[in-house]
Formats: sequence, structure tokens, C-alpha cells
Amino acid sequence: MSQEAVLGGLLCCLLMAIVVVADSPYRFFEWNVTYGYIYPLGVKQQGILINGQFPGPEIHSVTNDNLIINVHNSLDEPFLISWNGVQQRRNSYEDGVVGTTCPIPPGKNFTYILQAKDQIGSFFYFPSLGLHKAAGGFGGFRILSRPLIPVPFDDPAGDFTLLIGDWYKANHTELKAMLNRGRRLPFPDAVLINGCGPNGFTINVDQGKTYRLRISNVGLEHSLNFRIEGHKLTLVEVEGTHTLQTTYSSIDVHVGQSISVLFTADQAPKAYYIAASTRFTTRILTATAALRYSGSGQPLSGEPPGGPTNQIDWSLNQARSIRTNLTASGPRPNPQGSYHYGLINLTRTIRLASSAGLVDGKQRYAVNSVSFVAGDTPLKLADYFGIPGVFRVGSISDAPTGRGMYLDTSVMQADYRAFIEIVFENRESIVLTWHLDGYSFWVVGMDGGEWSPASRNGYNLRDAVSRCTTQVYPRSWTAIYVALDNKGMWNVRSEFWARQYLGQQFYLRVYSPVVSIRDEYPIPKNALLCGRAAGRHTRPL
Ligand SMILES: *[C@@H]1O[C@H](CO)[C@@H](O)[C@H](O)[C@H]1NC(C)=O
Ligand SMILES: *[C@@H]1O[C@H](CO)[C@@H](O)[C@H](O)[C@H]1NC(C)=O
Ligand SMILES: *[C@@H]1O[C@H](CO)[C@@H](O)[C@H](O)[C@H]1NC(C)=O
Ligand SMILES: *[C@@H]1O[C@H](CO)[C@@H](O)[C@H](O)[C@H]1NC(C)=O
Ligand SMILES: *[C@@H]1O[C@H](CO)[C@@H](O)[C@H](O)[C@H]1NC(C)=O
Repeated sequence: MSQEAVLGGLLCCLLMAIVVVADSPYRFFEWNVTYGYIYPLGVKQQGILINGQFPGPEIHSVTNDNLIINVHNSLDEPFLISWNGVQQRRNSYEDGVVGTTCPIPPGKNFTYILQAKDQIGSFFYFPSLGLHKAAGGFGGFRILSRPLIPVPFDDPAGDFTLLIGDWYKANHTELKAMLNRGRRLPFPDAVLINGCGPNGFTINVDQGKTYRLRISNVGLEHSLNFRIEGHKLTLVEVEGTHTLQTTYSSIDVHVGQSISVLFTADQAPKAYYIAASTRFTTRILTATAALRYSGSGQPLSGEPPGGPTNQIDWSLNQARSIRTNLTASGPRPNPQGSYHYGLINLTRTIRLASSAGLVDGKQRYAVNSVSFVAGDTPLKLADYFGIPGVFRVGSISDAPTGRGMYLDTSVMQADYRAFIEIVFENRESIVLTWHLDGYSFWVVGMDGGEWSPASRNGYNLRDAVSRCTTQVYPRSWTAIYVALDNKGMWNVRSEFWARQYLGQQFYLRVYSPVVSIRDEYPIPKNALLCGRAAGRHTRPL
């Protein structure tokens, strides 16, 4: 045997020893992605189904579980699934976005190998290419605490997932064609709750019991306000962080975000409206579902409860009131006892300004003047195989430049293990939402006006919430702290999907010169290879 083969064999064993974390179970999923007719608003639409379901099946997992998800693409076009908030630790190859993973060709399959490493909480998955998200293909993704780790509230009598989001009657091909022609999307037709139109979805409860709702905004654009007629909502978890348990009469969920609330069925036994309505829009779309007490046959009656509409301050104040419960356990027992993010020195500040404009007469969106266009090869694969000319590190500046908008394959480099501050600056008149793959971050501050170093005086350096998706209010900024402890190529994107599609995203290459599987796994053996990576070998180095 050659030395190389022996070394390869050793590395393989080592790798398996690491990947197969001794006591973490495996869960296997076979998913068939097809087109199928759906009728959420009473009219026939072509939806994207997973195993015949719309929304797709929910993933139930426990911290550190290994999840083997074999996705068969039975559509007539390439397809990819990405994981909103489920960190692919040391493994951006599994992230399922164009910069990391080759699209699954029609008629082919790809097996994602994920681990719910050191995470708990409520998330979702979604199709990341084109406007597929407008047709379905999304589903809930919950990571439960391991049995011996305390959860800071009693086991609820029921634990439901609600996927809420704006919705169009037009199919994803038509929507994409509008954007490709340089147009904007029209106002959506409705808001859906779990793929259902008005009162199409029901939650059954018993009087006196307490329930958990995991709510994700899987829509394309709009912030939604969520409420239940006659019931209070107690926020308990936000994208993997147990929050101070604060009670609200309604709560905003911005596009791409996930939260968990508890509510007690403490009202007279009848049917109550569950409502989700668009925020910050002139026309308001409201979706309704039913909360039905057992033993009551009465139908829903009266009007659904109203909620806040345009009030930005209401939303900002609510966002600021969401804080971490420092004594509650996370994926490990009481993690905050040992990690004080507010005491760590920043190594870098990155300021990201969003903008909208025309390039060659077509609508585009940008970050620091660069409107992202994909390379001919996934960036992560180009990086791994050393294929030159796919992207340039530094193709996006780490502060606004004031330049006019231009197209590029934007990649920003940052040092592995750096502790950075990112300020999202929004000079526009709409609410934006930003998501960082591979990480959760502390939302240390948000306010109106221009950010300046003096803004740091108002930061919450004690109990800010750690999450993966944050909103930025109109003519305002949001600041986050991130510990760059996950090597890889990570997508930073607007969750306003038309903007993401038209360039408001880039990749953060979290880099160190040292190659070690302690820091990053090698390319998976089953990785699909495309573009200029086609025909290469995926053997571990
Ligand atoms: C997926 O579903 C389609 C339509 O039902 C079927 O023709 C195909 O064989 C299925 N593929 C797999 C891999 O199950
Ligand atoms: C496709 O599925 C088969 C099993 O049906 C599996 O052996 C193979 O590894 C999968 N392909 C990829 C690229 O993951
Ligand atoms: C999408 O909608 C367009 C316009 O209504 C229609 O021509 C096309 O057939 C639809 N595509 C599918 C796959 O249903
Ligand atoms: C915080 O978590 C603890 C569990 O460690 C729990 O007992 C307490 O009620 C929580 N406090 C709030 C305000 O959520
Ligand atoms: C942060 O920087 C200050 C001043 O340079 C230094 O005294 C302190 O030890 C540093 N803190 C940490 C946690 O590195």
C-alpha cells in the first residue's frame, strides 16, 4: 500500500470517529421532490411537494443527532434545499445554497449529511434556488433538548409548528420571469398558515392546558404580526435561544425568522381565531386559522382580532424586549454561565449597507454597492479544488463605498476565530431582514438614524438574544456580534426573497491557513460536482 493510501485510510478512520459522535443517533429521511397541484386559495396551483406533502414533512431531531436526508429531485429543473438556522458546523458543503453546493439535477438525488450539533430550537428548511420558495418545498425543523438537559418551562400538552408566509397565486416560474425581466413582484395575494388559506387550518386544544407553537415566517417578503383571539402569548424561544419569558398580546415575526410561544387555553370553550397579518403595508392581508377547544362545536364567529399595522416603534420596542434568559440551559446546561459575549474584544467591524437600483436598466439589489451574481462553480468547491478565477476575496468592501451599483461574485474574507461586529445599515423605507448561514449571533442593538461608534454606548452587552435572522427597520441600523468559530463559505443574505434573487447577498469566507479536520470537514464523498469542479475527485486530502 502506498504511503498516501495508508494516510488516507488513517484519516478516514479519524474522520469517522469524529463524524460518528459516539452516542448521537442517526435519523434517515428519503425525500422525493415533485410538482403537484395544490389549492391553498381555492384555485389550482402548481406546488413543490416533498413526499406528496405541502408544506414538506417536518424534521424532528435532538441535539447532536446525525441527519441523513436523501433528496430526490423529480422536478424538471435543478433543485437545492437549505437549512435556515441549522448550522452546518465545519461543513458548509451541506448548506445547500449556490455558493456551497451543486444543484441536484432533475432526476438525480443528493444525500445531505447534517448534524444538529450543539443546537436546540425551532428552524425551517426551504428550497434555495430561483423562486422555488414561492411554490412550497419548505418545512419545519425542530431540534429538541437532550433528555437530561433542563428546558425552562414545563412540557407543553402539545407542540405545534405554524409556517406562516405571504403567498402568490402565480407560479414560481412566472414570478422568476418577472424578476428576470427587471420588474418588481406585485403585492402578494394572501398569507397562508401551514399551506392553508382562510380558516383552513385548525389546532385542537383542551381547556386549562398549555401549548407550544413554533412559528416560522417562510414567506417571500412581508413581516407578519401573529396573535390568537382572547389569548396571551409567552415568548420562550427564538431561533435556538431560550428567552426571558415575556407575555405579549401579539408578536411580530419578520420574514425568515422563527420563534416559539406558549399559550394557555384559559378561555371559555369555543373556537378562536389565530391570525397572521402583514405589517408595514398599506393594504393588509390577514390569514386566519382556528383554535378549537375540545367539546365545543361552535364555528368561528365575529371578526378576527386586529393587530398593529404600520407602527414601527411598537415593533422596535418589542424587538428590544426580547432577551436571553441567562439562567436557562441551551444545548448544554446553562451555557451563559461560561460565555460572556459582552466582555470579548472586537477584532473587526463590518458595515453593510443595502441598496436598490438599476443595473443595465434592470432592477437589482446590492450590499455595499455589489449586486451578487453566482460564479460558474460553487465558491466552496472552487476554494477546495483551488480553481482560479471563480471569485476574488475582497470583491466586496467591509464598509459602504458610495459607489454606484455593480455586479460581482462578492466574497468577503474574515479570520477564523475572530470576534466581529456587523452593522446592517438600512437607508431605505422598508423593513429588511438579514440572515447569516452557519452561525447564530447576538443582536446587540438596533435604532433609528445613522449608526456611529457612539451607538455602541446603547448596546445590550448582557443578555441580548442570540439568533440567526434579524430585522433592520426603515432608516435604521441593527448591530450584531458574531464569534467566527465555524470555518467555511457562508451565505449572508437578505431574506426578502426577490432581493436575495436579484443580488442582495454575498459570501463570508471564514478562513484560516491551517487545514485541519478539527476545524473543517473535507468535501463529502458524495458531493455533486458541477461547473469547473466537474470530474474532480472528492477523496479526502
Ligand atoms: C418520486 O415521485 C414520482 C411521482 O410520484 C415517481 O414517479 C418517482 O418514481 C418517485 N421517485 C422516487 C425516487 O421515489
Ligand atoms: C442517491 O441515493 C442513493 C440511494 O438511493 C445513494 O446511495 C447515493 O449516495 C445518493 N447520491 C448522492 C449523491 O448522495
Ligand atoms: C406557470 O404559469 C404560467 C402562466 O400562467 C403558465 O403558462 C405555466 O404553464 C405555469 N407553469 C406550470 C409548470 O404550471
Ligand atoms: C429563566 O429560566 C429559569 C430556568 O433556569 C426559569 O426557572 C425562569 O422562570 C426563567 N425566567 C424567565 C423570566 O423566563
Ligand atoms: C480586551 O482588551 C483590553 C485592552 O486592550 C485588555 O485589557 C483585555 O484583557 C482584553 N480582554 C480580553 C477578554 O481579551
